[in-house]
Amino acid sequence: MSDIYPVDPDFAAHARIDRAAYARDYQASVRDPDAFWAQAAQRLDWFRAPTRVRDVSFALEDFRIRWFDDGELNASVNCLDRQLATRGDKTALLWEADDPGTAPKHVSYRELHARVCRLGNALRALGVEKGDRVTIYLPMIVEAAVAMLACARIGAVHSVVFGGFAPNSIADRVSDCASKLIITADEGLRGGRKVPLKANVDAALKLPGTDTVETVLVVRHTDATVDMQMPRDRWYDAVVDPQPAECEPERMNAEDPLFILYTSGSTGKPKGVLHTTGGYLLYASYTHEAVFDLREDDVYWCTADVGWVTGHSYIVYGPLANGATSLMFEGVPNYPDFSRFWQVIDRHKVTIFYTAPTAIRALMREGEGPVKATSRASLRLLGSVGEPINPEAWRWYYEVVGDSRCPIVDTWWQTETGGILISPLPGAIDLKPGSATLPFYGVQPALVDANGQLLEGATEGNLVITDSWPGQMRTVYGDHQRFIDTYFKAYPGMYFTGDGCRRDEDGYYWITGRVDDVINVSGHRIGTAEVESALVSHPKVAEAAVVGFPHDIKGQGIYAYVTLVAGEAESDALLKELVAHVRKEIGPIASPDFLQWAPGLPKTRSGKIMRRILRKIAENAPDQLGDTSTLADPSVVDSLVKHRHGA
Ligand code: PRX
Repeated sequence: MSDIYPVDPDFAAHARIDRAAYARDYQASVRDPDAFWAQAAQRLDWFRAPTRVRDVSFALEDFRIRWFDDGELNASVNCLDRQLATRGDKTALLWEADDPGTAPKHVSYRELHARVCRLGNALRALGVEKGDRVTIYLPMIVEAAVAMLACARIGAVHSVVFGGFAPNSIADRVSDCASKLIITADEGLRGGRKVPLKANVDAALKLPGTDTVETVLVVRHTDATVDMQMPRDRWYDAVVDPQPAECEPERMNAEDPLFILYTSGSTGKPKGVLHTTGGYLLYASYTHEAVFDLREDDVYWCTADVGWVTGHSYIVYGPLANGATSLMFEGVPNYPDFSRFWQVIDRHKVTIFYTAPTAIRALMREGEGPVKATSRASLRLLGSVGEPINPEAWRWYYEVVGDSRCPIVDTWWQTETGGILISPLPGAIDLKPGSATLPFYGVQPALVDANGQLLEGATEGNLVITDSWPGQMRTVYGDHQRFIDTYFKAYPGMYFTGDGCRRDEDGYYWITGRVDDVINVSGHRIGTAEVESALVSHPKVAEAAVVGFPHDIKGQGIYAYVTLVAGEAESDALLKELVAHVRKEIGPIASPDFLQWAPGLPKTRSGKIMRRILRKIAENAPDQLGDTSTLADPSVVDSLVKHRHGA
């Protein structure tokens, strides 16, 4: 039996949604989704209100996902213009620098509006038109949000690339969507270390397939000297500052693209997940308001990076569409010391704090001291996202960080889902440590077995969603068939999440992790195939197989098995070189934690690598290898077990 933390009656008394309201509205949302979402759509400002709500079929022969498809709106108008009348002087973005000695910035809705308009005008002047793609490769600075919203204003489709990615990864993402313009900065700053963003862009643009880029706008951030290649490279301030502070917003159809965000899958290169304007914005704003029980005077802080979907939906679009104050943090949890998060909370009187289990676990390791040195009295609600949170970390978060006062919302969702699908509503749903609990309005989760049979009651299976919700991705950019094949083929008529999940006797959902070849490292998705192809691109590597293994802090770590080209000698120097090679090819987040030489890999007679066996060896569970008799050469397994890292 698991622990239950019942809804706090004091919290519920002031909450937007209580138990009865959730039960009633959830039922209504699945009984008559058209009526429910038509009503919900009124939370947005439309140039032309939609008369149609949903046009959806997950059937392969008749596939379509369309929401509000005769409506017209602009996302930046919803995030900015409509706030001006009542919230013009309210802080929209509260920026906290990497270095606590640098003064924080308070950017009001009025100022943010002006800055977005200036950049929108500048982009238009540089020839960016509705539908063009713009790549954003920026650190966590205000310009990142300005850039996203300026694209939205003129109907350009932004593709934010996480600042930790290496030139190759930037180039892949730029060429896949044929970006016309890149917005970057001289350098980023994280934990006191400089990140050479502009130099990375320069290196990326030397790679094939990137010649669609006409302009690189460079924000001056650290004032480092960088190479400027004229006329391609332009200083952001020189181009943007002279522009007028009003910019006519583009009228976008609800189904016009808002952004592309690349994410790793189990095969091939990262997919360009495409989200559209109306459904996405509605879903991001509604979930943000309901799950975080948002109030007008909240200071809301999500610690994600804008390079990931959490930053899109819950730093920028959701909070700003709701007129909230959203804190944007440039730094890392352990700089200058392990108390930084809690100091920032005290400094800005943060009321809602949303972070990832990996950060909690890393901070937990440092003990209570750095937390207890701070007050945190302003906090009223905590959130978790990105990976399963182990009950031990949950309790530490609840008791030590939240002083047993603040509910925790464990929010399960994905880049593909646009917003939170399964999560407690803090005034309505009792908490169980480690469970994302129950679905949001309109979301219909189900569990299926390997054959696609729906499973009833308390059980475990693969998590599917049986009907659409407005924030659902609409396609893989440039490859609609890949979208259908990836998500709708395994279990016909249903969206397959790629996650395994348990449902308990109360109907609560417990996500157990990915069931495909995706590794979740510190809440970041890494495809094993990407790491393998980076390894194999090294001239001395013949073959590589990569699997995840349980890691105390990161959730999962990366374990690589490498077979060298005949005649190449195994050495510690080469091992280090290969790890560095992966960092250089993809970025530091994909660095293997362990690399093991594998003279041979376990393969079936048809040549397929048996990853199940490699996973068990990496997990140090050689007694669970299962049947190895179908292998072409069963003896390779013994040798791998014997030479396992640390064995
Ligand atoms: O495995 C699930 C895990 O993260 C995956 C989605 O990763 P990404 O698209 O990068 O988005 C992360 C931020 C939404 C999911 O398939 N995941 C995310 N949130 C949770 C989670 N696993 C368990 N509990 C969560 N709260």
